[in-house]
Amino acid sequence: MQDTIAAYLENWRLPIFLIITVAFVLYLVRLWALPKPIPGIPLRHDVTRHVLGDIPAMLKATANTDQTYMQWIQQEMLVLDSPIVQMFIRPLSRPVLILADFRETQDILMRRKEWDRSEMLGDLLGGLLPGHHLHQPTNPAWKAHRRLLQDLMSRSFLHEVAAPAVYNSASVLINLWEVKAKLARNRPFSAHNDIYTVALDGVQAFAFGEEFEYNATKPNLKVLEGLDAQDIARLSGTSATENEDEPVVFPEAKPHDVVTATLDLTEAVGKVQGSPLMRLTWKIMELTPRLRRAKKIKDAYILRELKRAVDHMKVEYEQSQSRVGESSPWVRSAVDHMVQREKQLAQKDGRDPEYFSATMMVETFGVVIGGHETTSTTILWGLKNLSDNQVPQTQLRSILQVSFSAAKSENRNPSVGEITTTSIPYLDAVIEEIFRQSGTSPALDRQATTDTQVLGYHVPKGTIMLMLTQGPSLRSSAFEIDEARRSQSCQAAKQDGRYRTEWDPLDIDVFKPERWLVPASSTSVLGVTEKRDLKDQFDGGAGPMLSFGLGMRGCFGRKLGYLELRILITLIVWNFELLPCPKDLSGYGCKMGVTTKPKDCYVRLRKVDLSRN
Ligand code: HEM
Ligand SMILES: *[C@@H]1O[C@H](CO)[C@@H](O)[C@H](O)[C@H]1NC(C)=O
Ligand SMILES: *[C@@H]1O[C@H](CO)[C@@H](O)[C@H](O)[C@H]1NC(C)=O
Repeated sequence: MQDTIAAYLENWRLPIFLIITVAFVLYLVRLWALPKPIPGIPLRHDVTRHVLGDIPAMLKATANTDQTYMQWIQQEMLVLDSPIVQMFIRPLSRPVLILADFRETQDILMRRKEWDRSEMLGDLLGGLLPGHHLHQPTNPAWKAHRRLLQDLMSRSFLHEVAAPAVYNSASVLINLWEVKAKLARNRPFSAHNDIYTVALDGVQAFAFGEEFEYNATKPNLKVLEGLDAQDIARLSGTSATENEDEPVVFPEAKPHDVVTATLDLTEAVGKVQGSPLMRLTWKIMELTPRLRRAKKIKDAYILRELKRAVDHMKVEYEQSQSRVGESSPWVRSAVDHMVQREKQLAQKDGRDPEYFSATMMVETFGVVIGGHETTSTTILWGLKNLSDNQVPQTQLRSILQVSFSAAKSENRNPSVGEITTTSIPYLDAVIEEIFRQSGTSPALDRQATTDTQVLGYHVPKGTIMLMLTQGPSLRSSAFEIDEARRSQSCQAAKQDGRYRTEWDPLDIDVFKPERWLVPASSTSVLGVTEKRDLKDQFDGGAGPMLSFGLGMRGCFGRKLGYLELRILITLIVWNFELLPCPKDLSGYGCKMGVTTKPKDCYVRLRKVDLSRN
């Protein structure tokens, strides 16, 4: 009997040992995997008991709602009532800090050397733009990439090359909307696709030149122009059956493969955004035939445009014998400029130019990706704000009519030259206010390169921090922060007067372009300096705003963004009254793409009759 028990135990020794070991290892893994908070910084209740941290709650809050994950984070911060919190939103990783305070953010972006671009942006965009400078730390590679793009945002390049190209695309939108306004007969229609395509046309024309043949907007205009009376009757309905608030849905052309490829790739990044496992999600999507095809088409057209630019440059240099570095009137697009830069840089470094390198390819496509959805989304939000705020809209229109009086009396659109060179502070203010309110990028990312401190808390090296662009102090009243908790440089800046006045909490969320206007500080009249009361000067530093980030790693394409908004908003408001839309089409719900877009953006247009008033 005893023998059998002994044998029995003998048989089971190994399995029992294994079970205990496995249980112990699992216990250790769980301990290792459980969230490890940074001491002192507020966090959501209970979160340290779950291996997945805040992820389940975040996914639950954003599934099937109009709420984005950044809005959820922002809301949780208000619950925790702290300008800085930590969240476990990356699986099995250290916490991500969230900061909601303009002054401290400005200090970190502009003055604190221990913060650089984070790896999180690479998680989002590394698949689509491998090696692009926007998701690299500020290292020699970043600098080398930026040298290729140098001067693309110079005033002369923007005015002479970019502005005409953008204006040309914008004019197609105006023609399209004239036709749509007529057909819609006061009914609303969605502006989403039209703005999305016109922004793509604008940035493609900037990148590849005005002759770039894959226009996205024009084919839709052609479709409408080709409608017969019957189609039109079906679209707009008879007046008897017509419901004024029912949106009209217009037919659209099938876009060209090149356009579809770009849109598919952009959309794929949108799906990655907000997923806790961004890199993995991209890898999986990359396997689909649709995305594989899109990548192939994209690579082919980028390469073709680079080749075209190189051929173009060779012909020019042979003809003109002009020396490298001289002003080059042949440069008509961003790729032209970039191949010329590469030629100059190669000469300087004593190497052969590499016009078709991975760097050239990704930085070229990066111009399209960087400039497309950002601009489109901002204009969509702007159209909503203008439709919902008739007073500033009307004021902008009358100021434009005064400023472009020649265009008004000649009953035409202001020319591109008039738009870019006429100083109109109220137009600047409207654009700034659209940027301030639009939340296109709801957060900025940085990562600590050494141990450091934020608002008095110790922050270990490697910690990622997101800084809200639409949170307290920017779009709602600020958290109160003890001055002594702020960094030395932040305190010093305030003492030296390097400080933006806070917005008044009472009107911080009102669409109020005037907030960006200040009295012209002093004007000299007959040698006497006098202070005027009139607020008639634009001041982009009048108060907190972070829509383009700040500092060394702030938005590279900011000036192009301003230019695109200037041209599009001017032409739209010049040509159309944006009437209020029905309530159920006017919500401010969001949907996630590369950027945070409005779920609905409808317009109800009335053509402005310039000869009448
Ligand atoms: C029009 C609206 C635009 C908005 C709202 C916008 C917003 C932003 C934001 C928030 C950042 C991050 C800044 C930071 O981390 O401090 C950024 C970076 C960047 N943007 Fe834009 N952007 C716009 C247009 C453009 C355009 C037109 C281009 C290119 C032609 C562009 C190219 C870039 C690049 C290359 C970076 C990365 C810079 C770096 O990391 O060094 N953006 N943008
Ligand atoms: C559209 O494509 C043609 C070439 O096919 C080009 O000449 C034109 O400038 C493009 N842009 C616009 C906005 O129409
Ligand atoms: C303006 O638009 C933003 C989104 O871009 C929205 O949050 C805000 O409520 C709007 N404000 C007004 C006053 O229409």
